[in-house]
Amino acid sequence: MPITFYEEQRIFKLDTKDSSYVISIYDEGYLLGLYYGKKIPDVPFDGHENRGLFASFSPMNEKLQDKHFSPDVQPVEYSGIGTGDFRKPAVVIRNADGNTCTDFRYVSHKIYSGKSELPGLPSTFSKEDGDCSTLEIETEDKTTGVRANLCYTVFEDHSVMARSVKIVNGSGKNVDIEKAYSASLQLPDMDFDMIHLYGNWYEERMYARTALDHGTFSISSSRGASSHFHNPAAILARKNATEDTGEAYGVNLVYSGSFDISADCDYYETTRLNIGIDPDTFKWHLTPGESFRTPEALTVYSDEGIGGVSRIYHRFFRDHLIPPKFVNEKRPLLINSWEAAYMNINTDILVSFAERAKELGIEMLVMDDGWFGKRNNDLSSLGDWYVNEEKFPGGLSELIGKINDLGIKFGIWYEPEMISPISDIFEKHPDWALGVPGRDRSIARHQYVIDMTRSDVRDAIYSQMYDVLSKYNIEYLKWDFNRNITEAGSALLPYENGGEVMHRFILGTYDLLSRLRRDFPDLLIESCSGGGGRFDAGMLYYSPQIWTSDNTNPIQRIDIQFGTSLFYPASTMGAHVSMNPRDNFPTKGNVALWGTFGYELDPNLLTDEEKETVKVQIKEYHETYGLIRNGDLYRIICPWDNDYRAAWEIVSGDKNEVLFTHVTMRYFRLWKHIVKLRGLDPDKVYRDLETGKKYSGAFLMNAGLNLTDYPRGNGDSFKIHLKAE
Ligand code: DGJ
Repeated sequence: MPITFYEEQRIFKLDTKDSSYVISIYDEGYLLGLYYGKKIPDVPFDGHENRGLFASFSPMNEKLQDKHFSPDVQPVEYSGIGTGDFRKPAVVIRNADGNTCTDFRYVSHKIYSGKSELPGLPSTFSKEDGDCSTLEIETEDKTTGVRANLCYTVFEDHSVMARSVKIVNGSGKNVDIEKAYSASLQLPDMDFDMIHLYGNWYEERMYARTALDHGTFSISSSRGASSHFHNPAAILARKNATEDTGEAYGVNLVYSGSFDISADCDYYETTRLNIGIDPDTFKWHLTPGESFRTPEALTVYSDEGIGGVSRIYHRFFRDHLIPPKFVNEKRPLLINSWEAAYMNINTDILVSFAERAKELGIEMLVMDDGWFGKRNNDLSSLGDWYVNEEKFPGGLSELIGKINDLGIKFGIWYEPEMISPISDIFEKHPDWALGVPGRDRSIARHQYVIDMTRSDVRDAIYSQMYDVLSKYNIEYLKWDFNRNITEAGSALLPYENGGEVMHRFILGTYDLLSRLRRDFPDLLIESCSGGGGRFDAGMLYYSPQIWTSDNTNPIQRIDIQFGTSLFYPASTMGAHVSMNPRDNFPTKGNVALWGTFGYELDPNLLTDEEKETVKVQIKEYHETYGLIRNGDLYRIICPWDNDYRAAWEIVSGDKNEVLFTHVTMRYFRLWKHIVKLRGLDPDKVYRDLETGKKYSGAFLMNAGLNLTDYPRGNGDSFKIHLKAE
């Protein structure tokens, strides 16, 4: 069992193959997070409890035997507020008498093999007996009777812990949760940089590395979606940690709504990292006996640098988060109609795309926005999910029939969480849009947000979707989300539940996604949000791939894909070759090959030369499919370390196959021609499939490849594909 309780020392030790996590039950039941880091054998874990000196005026509890103990300076595992710990709390509960004091102490615990589900929420799962074990610690605030049950699931083979908290109102009175983080990490120093991803539409997941210092540094979203602006994940890296070396801790929230990740460094230079739902836009009312479960946070430890953290997340997401069917089965190579035709679609246009696509070897046509209601531009029709008869007289049978007859699969676009003010549905049900009485609704992209908190609204949207999806042979669904949430009010929620809309909204989204998964288990879902505005582990639980960005320019995409790869594997990154820019098809192909790979252009416009390039790309896509989907990523030259080139490498699990890709973003005279590969077997001999040259793994990793003769002009790129003999 990777989880052990040492009764005498009152210590829990949670071990993965590379890491240990230690929690102690201290005097009077204080729960202390004593250690998280490289795997250690030691028990008892002596001497880390009382971190010595008091801060100024540190409050004490007179009942404690240890007269030198103040929660103010202790690594309190899941801290409340108002009872002696003045740092940023993990949980704030407004009690029936109006105050927010809580102090959660140990009551009991259980350890079991496997993992419990998080009802209504996406979460990681066990795949076979014995692949994970769980510790649940029940804590209680004795004065109110409110309980916080802390859950830790250890995935031993992955160096991952999945954490969540269940708050139970045992107080006999109503209480309000004002803040409930999913996990709180106590680290004994602040010698860290936080690596995080910021961005915007067309520029998602840009890399940033910020030194922690005294005070609080946080990244968050209050937009009702994880958002373009920050990603709900971060790495705390030792200041000397590099891509390949040094200690790094990852945190990643399995959640697609507003979030907060904050690192609070105190006077004693310790760090508390809290990760969970954004408290600014959240409140949850609990009547007696009710409970609330936070989303799951995934923590990772690696002493193999930033790249080590990324590889752990990639493998783990493939094994324990993404629907297994889509990890294992080959997904179709698709062409999407959006950049080719926007909303100017009809049967003839789409069939012509499919005919050309067939000639090139493409396997699926996705009909994007514009097929429903009276949708000819973005002014109307979201929520009217019936076929636009002007574009598709008699429905989609003719279109899909013709496409399927070509041997091409068919996919469709939806934006289920939205409602256009100009739509039949809004005319009939204006209260189905989120809104607050007496306040104008803000508008974005000419649309409102539908009230996903209401089951009647969800039923109505789902039944429209069900009608279309069950009537036609539709094998893929792109689920879009093109604005953020404002005026978060629901017509049906009473005053005391008014603060719950943002979280209930995303639970509603998850409910619809779960229904789709249940009723159409073979349907491949790609999620999207104005490009990559909701690229998170929560969505990956339902949709194995996510549209990474509307920016398909291969040079600008380098930063976006590198940033995304910090946490998310290649198999999840929607990446297409488009006409942006018109030239440089080879580099567009090489960059898109790192993701799911597909096309987003009018294939009728391709020249004969471009068609030949596309055919080569498709051949390479098939040849490298398994390697890219399941291999380990090594970021060899990162765009955040220089501004003229980038290189990455994917190595198969058995280290027998390697694909190295290099892109010159900008010509630079002082180009270093020797590049060392990583992650190979030093004792194997690798053959370059193009040149036939042979090298040992040791040579490639230590002496390196000489790239002098490879293209290095603006926008040039090349791949080197190696196989072990
Ligand atoms: C935003 C997406 O990112 C695009 O790919 C496209 O689907 C449009 N929405 C359609 O409105």
